[in-house]
Amino acid sequence: MMRINLKLMCLCVCICLVFLSVSIWTRCGGEIPSFSPSFRIESFRRAQSLNSGNENGAFEEIDCHINGDYSIPCRKEGDEVYLPFSFIHKYFEVYGKMAVYDGYMRFEWSHSYSKVYFPKGRYDPRGVFLYFENYNVELRERVKCISATEGVPVSTQWESTGYYYPTQVAQFGLAHYSKNLTEPEPRSRIFDDGLTVFGNWSGKVSRENRHLVFNKRENESRDVHMLMDHVLDFVLTVELLLKAGDNSSFTVVLQSREKNEAWNLHYSCNSPLIHSEHQDVYHRIECNEGKWSFLVRDLLVDLQKGLAAQMKPKKKLLRSKFKVTAIKLGGSGKLANLTLSSSRHLEQFYLAADWLVKHQNPVTGGWLNPVRRKGPHGMKDLLPGWLSAMGQGHGMSLLARAYHKSKRPEYLKAGLLSLRPFHADSSSGGVLAHFMGSLPWYEEYPTEPPSFVLNGFIYSLIGLYDLLTLVPKSHEATVLFNQGMDSLKKLLPLFDNGSGSNYDLRHFALGAAPNIARWDYHATHVNQLLLLATIDNHTVLSSTAERWLGYMSGKRAQHN
Ligand SMILES: *[C@@H]1O[C@H](CO)[C@@H](O)[C@H](O)[C@H]1NC(C)=O
Ligand SMILES: *[C@@H]1O[C@H](CO)[C@@H](O)[C@H](O)[C@H]1NC(C)=O
Ligand SMILES: *[C@@H]1O[C@H](CO)[C@@H](O)[C@H](O)[C@H]1NC(C)=O
Ligand SMILES: *[C@@H]1O[C@H](CO)[C@@H](O)[C@H](O)[C@H]1NC(C)=O
Ligand SMILES: *[C@@H]1O[C@H](CO)[C@@H](O)[C@H](O)[C@H]1NC(C)=O
Ligand SMILES: *[C@@H]1O[C@H](CO)[C@@H](O)[C@H](O)[C@H]1NC(C)=O
Ligand SMILES: *[C@@H]1O[C@H](CO)[C@@H](O)[C@H](O)[C@H]1NC(C)=O
Repeated sequence: MMRINLKLMCLCVCICLVFLSVSIWTRCGGEIPSFSPSFRIESFRRAQSLNSGNENGAFEEIDCHINGDYSIPCRKEGDEVYLPFSFIHKYFEVYGKMAVYDGYMRFEWSHSYSKVYFPKGRYDPRGVFLYFENYNVELRERVKCISATEGVPVSTQWESTGYYYPTQVAQFGLAHYSKNLTEPEPRSRIFDDGLTVFGNWSGKVSRENRHLVFNKRENESRDVHMLMDHVLDFVLTVELLLKAGDNSSFTVVLQSREKNEAWNLHYSCNSPLIHSEHQDVYHRIECNEGKWSFLVRDLLVDLQKGLAAQMKPKKKLLRSKFKVTAIKLGGSGKLANLTLSSSRHLEQFYLAADWLVKHQNPVTGGWLNPVRRKGPHGMKDLLPGWLSAMGQGHGMSLLARAYHKSKRPEYLKAGLLSLRPFHADSSSGGVLAHFMGSLPWYEEYPTEPPSFVLNGFIYSLIGLYDLLTLVPKSHEATVLFNQGMDSLKKLLPLFDNGSGSNYDLRHFALGAAPNIARWDYHATHVNQLLLLATIDNHTVLSSTAERWLGYMSGKRAQHN
């Protein structure tokens, strides 16, 4: 396998790279003690045959013996030895790919695969949340669908049937808030508002105030529909009041512009959360008699989730490849304010805020995680109902913004209530732990013993900061923020491993091997520290951020 890679890829990279230890090179150079004669002849033959096909005739193929354990094929050219990149990639976890531009082919090497976002100025809780304008929560594989009853994502991360994961609901809302501030103004077209635009509905309908009324019983033979030919903008909003007894539904027909293929996206009273077969995708909506429901649907996301449910290819669906050709109304009900837009970020943000208000425990102020989470080795499982400082913090970040934007008192109330778990021990239903019995820490996962996850802790600090900035007189948030920042400054060095960062402190808590942060978490640490450094210029924040940034391009702490 290695040999095929070698020949196919031809990706030989000069080995005189700083981090490769001299001893390996000397060994590759040929001074390998346990070098069997048969091997020697084999590699000589290979070198001969290769050389004869090589115009320069410059290299010969030799074996590299790795730590005295095993061999891989290398090439020798003069005094230089070249190792296959596929080996270097695995051994050192570095990344590379061929790139062709400006008429040249080159090999691009990178030490890490993640990106750091540099703050554009002092962090402002009224503005974008970190770099979340780049997030697309709904397209994540572990998002089963966007619930049509709640308008927020349903996760399958720890339970495949799906559940609401408060951290993810808040991330969805914060991403849409951030996109509202960074994306161009949306295009929007009204199809029926009962005032300026009246839909061209076929079938029997009537009007009542500004609503359209349709009723199956009056004509059993035909459903009501409106034909259209709408391209590019696929975020639909509508207000519906469907009659549950009549198996009522609202259906959008989405057609491929290239193939003669159409899908029916049904929003219906009698469907499970999401269900999909053949060309039909069903989402459940709430059909409470007398209560309007407000739908904001990204139709391409709904189709993508439907296809994923059928195990069809899940690749991103392109807006240019589809059009909306019809809307159909089944059963009986009322409809108002039907539009299609390029985006509806603020509405989706408020759906997440409303979910948080509705699902907060009124006594503890917590957003429960309704699933069991397996504890890392040596720790007990978290039982359904656990709270996360990260979920609480994200909730605060969202509600503080919702309150700032709307001034609605329920957002303020829920934001302040979400502080309560920060006073209760993580061992008894809260999120508060203490390092060595003294320094307070807010736990992303309330494990026993505490795990001290860094990124979740910092997200909770950002939530506290958002709340204390946007909510008047939040003395409690100020105290919690200050004591948390104090712990962070003292404990941050324990997360530094000299060439990367640790995800948590389980090596301390359990005496286990350290849990090294993979590069995207390491990059998150750097992003978070850069942000905190704009609001608190304590040097440990900025100097750690800078050193950790260096680790991402191969810099390392000095050894003695
Ligand atoms: C953002 O929200 C404002 C309302 O506060 C709206 O007028 C604007 O069009 C929205 N922009 C985007 C890109 O969503
Ligand atoms: C209304 O829709 C019908 C088909 O359902 C179509 O024939 C007719 O041209 C449409 N009228 C307008 C004004 O768009
Ligand atoms: C039902 O609709 C069909 C087609 O529009 C029409 O021919 C028929 O007369 C209608 N029946 C009633 C009872 O309204
Ligand atoms: C309800 O409507 C769906 C289409 O939306 C249809 O497939 C199903 O058979 C209907 N069920 C009943 C009981 O009428
Ligand atoms: C439709 O939109 C208008 C204007 O935004 C609003 O006043 C009305 O309440 C909406 N209709 C329904 C049924 O909510
Ligand atoms: C420190 O982290 C880096 C980056 O993930 C990793 O490659 C390295 O093995 C770690 N070092 C130690 C001593 O754990
Ligand atoms: C950093 O903080 C110190 C003391 O709080 C202050 O005097 C100084 O001006 C700050 N520097 C910057 C660059 O904000």
